[in-house]
Amino acid sequence: MIDLSHVYKTYPTGVHALSDVSLSIGKGEFVYLTGPSGAGKTTLFKLITCYDQATSGKIVVNGFDYNSIQASAIPFIRRRIGVVFQDFKLLKDRTISENVGLPLEILGVHRTEIQSRVLEALDQVGLKYKGTYFPDHLSGGEQQRVAIARAIINKPGLLIADEPTGNLDQHLADEIMKLFEKINAQGTTVFIATHNTGFLSKGSRRVVRLVKGHVEESPQDRANNVDPMPSHPAPLEAILT
Ligand SMILES: Nc1ncnc2c1ncn2[C@@H]1O[C@H](COP(=O)(O)OP(=O)(O)O)[C@@H](O)[C@H]1O
Ligand SMILES: [Mg+2]
Repeated sequence: MIDLSHVYKTYPTGVHALSDVSLSIGKGEFVYLTGPSGAGKTTLFKLITCYDQATSGKIVVNGFDYNSIQASAIPFIRRRIGVVFQDFKLLKDRTISENVGLPLEILGVHRTEIQSRVLEALDQVGLKYKGTYFPDHLSGGEQQRVAIARAIINKPGLLIADEPTGNLDQHLADEIMKLFEKINAQGTTVFIATHNTGFLSKGSRRVVRLVKGHVEESPQDRANNVDPMPSHPAPLEAILT
């Protein structure tokens, strides 16, 4: 799903944000990305989501080798990756339904199809009845749920979240993390940057730590990782053949 091999990112300012990062995340995994502020977490996510280019090294996501794609393929690649940010990034002058449906609107999907898929996504995040509200009428936790609904509306195989609970208190943060776990249990690969040591100390999830642009991942972190797709048995054909 995500394969990085000897990736370096040096900004034009001379800052070495990532140095020799190699990392592999399989389909269906749930992985935390941690490390101090300035460690390179957001930079790593920008490279994975094609919002910036590596200085050197190889990045393959969803089967696309970023060294050999054409610029015209980038929107297509991004559509397969849901992204959630710390500050929600909702449009204040649009209703919740309009915010969630925006990615489909941009794709020119028919209005009735948008309506039904928005309802489905809002239902998944527990906000089925808030579609006509505006973002300012919702709590921070609810706004982040809306952002998650928007991120999954295209049914992406990969969901990336950059400090998604950074603006929320612990109780709401826990709920948001449970939501990510639910989405992961349905088969989506989830990669979350977080400072929140409360989640990390629970111990059953893989944790990739970035320090000054270098990956630190002990073999134990890898071994602790749960079965990548526990709730998804192999399709019948795969078992029979
Ligand atoms: N657009 C940019 N131009 C120059 N330097 C940047 C830019 N974005 C981030 N940096 C620098 O790269 C390093 C890593 O930043 P970042 O990826 O945002 O880390 P984190 O998300 O872990 O806090 C920091 O030193 C930061 O100042
Ligand atoms: Mg960051």
